[in-house]
Amino acid sequence: MASTEAITVQRLQALTPQALAQLQQLVVDSHWNQLPADWALFYSLGAIYVVRDAEGVIVASSAVLPMGSSLGGAAQVSWISMVLVSPALRGHGLGRAVFARCLAQVQSKDRVPMLDATPQGEALYAQFGFEPTWRFTRWRRPQNTTAMSGLPADTSIHYLQQLDQQALGFDRHALLSGMAEREGARCVRHAEASALLRPGRTAVHIGPMHATQEAEGAALLQAIAAALPDALVVDVPQGRSRMEATLNATGFAPERPFARMVRASGLKLAPTQTDIVQAVAGPEYA
Ligand SMILES: CC(C)(COP(=O)(O)OP(=O)(O)OC[C@H]1O[C@@H](n2cnc3c(N)ncnc32)[C@H](O)[C@@H]1OP(=O)(O)O)[C@@H](O)C(=O)NCCC(=O)NCCS
Repeated sequence: MASTEAITVQRLQALTPQALAQLQQLVVDSHWNQLPADWALFYSLGAIYVVRDAEGVIVASSAVLPMGSSLGGAAQVSWISMVLVSPALRGHGLGRAVFARCLAQVQSKDRVPMLDATPQGEALYAQFGFEPTWRFTRWRRPQNTTAMSGLPADTSIHYLQQLDQQALGFDRHALLSGMAEREGARCVRHAEASALLRPGRTAVHIGPMHATQEAEGAALLQAIAAALPDALVVDVPQGRSRMEATLNATGFAPERPFARMVRASGLKLAPTQTDIVQAVAGPEYA
């Protein structure tokens, strides 16, 4: 293991245009999909941690998002994400150091740390006692200029928020509202399925999408894919045969797996109904 003793991790004190540009460069370097609006959300609702090089340039990042109250009197959850290291500086302990700082912050508040890990990240988080719960796959569809049917009508985010709390066992009204208020974001509904669509750096992100019946989620996904010409990404729990059939039929291809991980440490976990989740909000948001 690399030593983290000489690495200084700081909480970002001001999201200046310069800091935002440096954080966004980390996203670009890792080919991720976030926009500056995502960093603004992490900053306003949670905390961003950084490592800087000798010139003061941000070369590693991570974020902590505290979620709202948990169902059944369970411990509250904080989501750790955006663990990014500048490619030239990987393998020197920066990822471990910035992540350890986030974890310490979460544990100091007696909250349950959770995260979604890429295969690269999973190896790191396992060393800190995180265990995988379930897995999902990122699917991507390139631009499709022939898409032209109408998108289901925009709807209030209220129904999606209700299903969301039931599905995950914690409240993230503030987070979902923040995502929905972003320029270009929309909330759509078809029968009992509802989804949030938000612009991303490389593709429109579909999610969260919730439905008590998977078939209704698949029908909404099909309607979205038929209506939007943009490149699309969606993160679908593994083993959803109807969703996967629709993804394959509408031009999506699997891109990478993620593991949803938790470190419970004896704290009480909230009851979940993950069968309601047809697509997650994104690995950075749960
Ligand atoms: C994953 C990432 C943050 C690790 O940062 P880093 O500074 O290179 O990692 P560290 O030097 O602190 O190494 C910590 C541990 O990460 C794991 N790790 C790092 N790079 C890895 C790789 N390419 N493959 C597998 N495991 C890797 C190892 O378990 C390593 O532990 P070790 O030192 O005992 O071998 C970095 O590679 C990165 O930014 N990757 C792209 C974005 C990403 O996938 N982020 C994780 C999101 S969940």
